[in-house]
Amino acid sequence: MAAVRRTRVAIFFGGRSVEHEISVITALQLMQAIDPEKYEITPVYISPNGSWFTGEQLFERAFYKRVPSALSELQEVSLLPKPGVTGLITLNRDGKSATGSVIPVDVIIPAFHGQYGEDGCIQGLIEMTDIPYTGSNVVASAVTMNKYVCKVFLQHHDIPALPALLIRREDAQNDIKERCEWITKQEGFTSFPLFVKPCNLGSSIGVSRVTDPSQLAPALAKVFRYDTQALVEPCVSEIMEINVSVREHEGIKASVVEIPVSQSGVLSYEEKYLRGGGKKTGQSEGMASLTRVIDPQDLDTELRDAVIAHAKKAFEVLGCSGVARLDFIVDLATGALYFNELNAFPGSCSFYLWVRSQPRVLYTTLIENMIDTAMKTRGTIASLDRDIGLKALK
Ligand SMILES: Nc1ncnc2c1ncn2[C@@H]1O[C@H](COP(=O)(O)OP(=O)(O)O)[C@@H](O)[C@H]1O
Ligand SMILES: [Mg+2]
Repeated sequence: MAAVRRTRVAIFFGGRSVEHEISVITALQLMQAIDPEKYEITPVYISPNGSWFTGEQLFERAFYKRVPSALSELQEVSLLPKPGVTGLITLNRDGKSATGSVIPVDVIIPAFHGQYGEDGCIQGLIEMTDIPYTGSNVVASAVTMNKYVCKVFLQHHDIPALPALLIRREDAQNDIKERCEWITKQEGFTSFPLFVKPCNLGSSIGVSRVTDPSQLAPALAKVFRYDTQALVEPCVSEIMEINVSVREHEGIKASVVEIPVSQSGVLSYEEKYLRGGGKKTGQSEGMASLTRVIDPQDLDTELRDAVIAHAKKAFEVLGCSGVARLDFIVDLATGALYFNELNAFPGSCSFYLWVRSQPRVLYTTLIENMIDTAMKTRGTIASLDRDIGLKALK
């Protein structure tokens, strides 16, 4: 019997995002978990300055310690934004011209977190190639990356979220005093503490808890070092966070919920990625490292069911695909539940939640299901009528 050809999977990761390293960790976990009998992997690492590379070395965690000098050992690659190439083009040493050879790819797994990778940018480029890709499409990725747009859209669908003011960098820089005064005059924002955060970033970078009006300007300045839009929200002082993963496979399914445990009240980058993990191995396992309670038995079932119902609905109305993680905030003082954010491609692909769910889903299966969905979606798009004709010009 002729051997069945393995599906050629390119795993894209790294990228020009503050969450670059977390993406490398997620990708290494993916490469470990994917079924090697079914899939042939081409790792594609995008360096922090945006060049793309492939090579066997990318399977080794130790390699990344030697970046950027070791990048010269790798083959530079790229994608042409046109259908029919069905793979990665390889570049000459100059990084600008093509060698003429192509590395064939059947499906791409974009394993990025944050800007350029989780926000619709890379998805748009891949769309142009007609190569199937896993996860959310351009619109769902872009909307979920913008915390303000996502919040307003979901509120429209009766999913509760904290009120938020959107502050543009330009306006703040023109007259910061006027902007700060304006904020404190808005309904719901007249009393402190307030919470200030970037609109389009993750990993708790640039967030501040503001306890009096004099702290508003520095908090906004901090955001505007990283982002062009800031969000101001009422600060939930007695906060409990609840996260849940949602995926679409034979219907929209939710995982068990988790309660991330913070020592400071605000989950910091350090708490998310550098604490907890590494106890055994001395190294971070990304999102899988966080100190958390998975499937807490003492959680109010009504609250848990509300989280799950909102999460599944949000995933559906946003048109997400693959595996997402939705983060909620509970105000323990009032009992109110709020949607906080949706990660279209969550750290560690949330596998640590799915392995604890009923029925249990192994990471290997999660990946396989994502690939199958990507292939099916591409097939559906290809089958749509495209009435493209050169009629107006004739
Ligand atoms: N309105 C708020 N009130 C109190 N704490 C908040 C609020 N918004 C966010 N936080 C805290 O800050 C953390 C990071 O904010 P989040 O909106 O989740 O952004 P990120 O994309 O950086 O994770 C949250 O996990 C939570 O601990
Ligand atoms: Mg968050």
